[in-house]
Amino acid sequence: MASYLEQNKDRFLSELLDWLRIPSVSADPKFHGDVLRAADFLKTRLEEAGMENVELCQTAGYPIVYGDKIIDPSLPTVLVYGHYDVQPADPYELWTSPPFEPVIKDGKIYARGACDDKGQVYMHVKAFEMMMQDGGVPCNVKVMFEGEEEVGSSNLGIFVKANKEKLKADVILISDTGILSNDQPSIEVGLRGLSYHQVEVTGPNRDLHSGLYGGAVPNPINVLCKMIASLHDENNHITIPEFYNNVAVLSEADRAELNRVPHSDEEFKESIGLKDIYGEKGYTTVERIGIRPTLDVNGIWGGYTGEGAKTVIASKAYAKISMRLVPHQTSDEITALFQKHFESIAPASVTVKVTPHHGGEPVVTPTNSVAYQAAADALETTFGKKPIPTRGGGSIPIVAMFKSELGLDTVLLGFGLDSDAIHSPNEHYGVFNFFKGIETIPHFYRNYAAGMQK
Ligand code: BES
Ligand code: MN
Ligand code: MN
Repeated sequence: MASYLEQNKDRFLSELLDWLRIPSVSADPKFHGDVLRAADFLKTRLEEAGMENVELCQTAGYPIVYGDKIIDPSLPTVLVYGHYDVQPADPYELWTSPPFEPVIKDGKIYARGACDDKGQVYMHVKAFEMMMQDGGVPCNVKVMFEGEEEVGSSNLGIFVKANKEKLKADVILISDTGILSNDQPSIEVGLRGLSYHQVEVTGPNRDLHSGLYGGAVPNPINVLCKMIASLHDENNHITIPEFYNNVAVLSEADRAELNRVPHSDEEFKESIGLKDIYGEKGYTTVERIGIRPTLDVNGIWGGYTGEGAKTVIASKAYAKISMRLVPHQTSDEITALFQKHFESIAPASVTVKVTPHHGGEPVVTPTNSVAYQAAADALETTFGKKPIPTRGGGSIPIVAMFKSELGLDTVLLGFGLDSDAIHSPNEHYGVFNFFKGIETIPHFYRNYAAGMQK
């Protein structure tokens, strides 16, 4: 099988580049046709690879690309999930080459979606092709790729609830996360949840001359900044009452275990140009990312931001605020707490509106399962080193629903690196990682099928 990969490497790569040329940005209606084209492209490639019953399942938003290969109903079934939509590429001027004109430089594929998640989805398409060319798959396979992950997966949630029979499987397999480094494989065993809001603060009923009125009226931008600043205390704890009520407290032994992962604060600072580390008092960087909840402003605007100066007190100020959640917080609970608190801290002179956006629940995946062991063994075979379980800081909202709606655990067999700049300008994915994924996935299937027979 290694030789099939060797012989087809160039084609695999050039197919991926063709797919990356389609700007499948789900957040921006301007790309509507492109997102649909990316779904069609995937459908065709799956059919060519030997997948059966490939279809575009319509939703209220972008279609879900489904396919399966059922070789024997009595054998276990792996359901592969991923997403073909990508984040907006703005700001374009910070890209060294255009985001939808992929190039390979220094062994890396530069394009929006190269790592998150088209490059990783495509590893599954090619791994499947490879298995089909080499005696077939060792168990049943279903695939389900959505086009709305980057905007919260709400239509996929509806689809999953309505299609439990179609999606019947034994385990979920996802490549949409990362490894510690190309020398040290790892498997993420936790994802954080999310509660996301837009807030609006209104002061006077129109923009005002800052001289004629300044000092005697609430400036909504000043007020918003003060409100936001008050959401953390001097130890960087979040001040929303009851926010930490349900946060799982890890034992000292579990914390020590978590902190055994290779991590250097020096390298961490260096890699993103920080002068010092920063975060919640009493926790390490690894813990701050993996097991602690956060609150961050994602954007803030209002007033005059054009050239030169304009002396004005704006009528309104806005911010987008997100909270990353950990077990056993829920997005409904935190959304309600945030809304209530944020409204309560507003001075009487302004009005505040909080509009919740999408949310998602945190998850922890088991390490004592046949599927986890299959993934760990597969990585050990292809990297020559045992993978380390890690707690990731990102979110994949549908994973918690796979558990709650389908009763299925997930294995996060991702191959990205933190340095791949996902969601940022110059996103890239290692050619090494792309091929390593294709090489590893068939081992997972073989190990899993064998493990389930015992
Ligand atoms: N693939 C990422 C999440 C991720 C990346 C998890 C790396 C772990 C390691 C996913 O596409 C993503 O960006 N999710 C969003 C959530 C979504 C609701 C917009 C996120 O984490 O911000
Ligand atoms: Mn992703
Ligand atoms: Mn993403």
